[in-house]
Amino acid sequence: MKINVLTLFPDMFTPLQTSMLGRGLEDKKWNLNLVNFRDFTTDVHHHVDDTPYGGGAGMVLQIMPIKKALNSLSSTGKIIITAPQGKTFNEKMAQEWAKEDELTFICGHYEGFDQRVYDLADETVSIGDYVLTGGELPTMSMIDATVRLIPGILGNAASPVEESFSHGLLEYPQYTRPADYEGQKVPDVLMSGNHQKIDEWRHYQALKATYLHRPDMLEGRKFTSEEKKMLAQIKAELD
Ligand code: ADE
Repeated sequence: MKINVLTLFPDMFTPLQTSMLGRGLEDKKWNLNLVNFRDFTTDVHHHVDDTPYGGGAGMVLQIMPIKKALNSLSSTGKIIITAPQGKTFNEKMAQEWAKEDELTFICGHYEGFDQRVYDLADETVSIGDYVLTGGELPTMSMIDATVRLIPGILGNAASPVEESFSHGLLEYPQYTRPADYEGQKVPDVLMSGNHQKIDEWRHYQALKATYLHRPDMLEGRKFTSEEKKMLAQIKAELD
């Protein structure tokens, strides 16, 4: 997959070039093309913004350098703008994007875009109901969540299929050595060697964690008969 990022701060993107994603870059499993759209300005001061028509505080990012930067790309794939008013990013979107050959992100900074910039994009996406100084951190989060789903990126370290959100439940608790840390013991079932019992316990714990912390994720879920029993038990346990 090729990912283009239009940004005024390409130096911010080093986190994506470290650890597993960095190895993926070296192995050419994906490609990151950082484009500074200030390079496409034509005035002597390289302005990318101007005051808003109609007055008001702040500055507005102009369409021209962004459009020229987009035009400089031989292809773009899906174009995504990161902005707080967009639809909220989630794992399902990461899964869809991970199937694409190419994506292009446009990052604003401090200020909003000229409305015509939004019309250049296929989607406007937010990472949550809070405002950041720029689109760089949201873009990095979205790229990380997407690229890690590309086959071969995580290696044997983890299976994205088994984790939170991919099956609609939060993750069950995990433990490693020691079995007893200052009196805090690992649940016996995990050391029983009985894989059916372990699977049941994990399923129960995942359902319980979701019921407790993210009940909204259970709305509209088609519960199996086993899950219905578990849920009744969880409610009884918590009463
Ligand atoms: N830019 C500023 N805040 C943002 C947010 N919450 N999501 C995406 N882009 C942003």
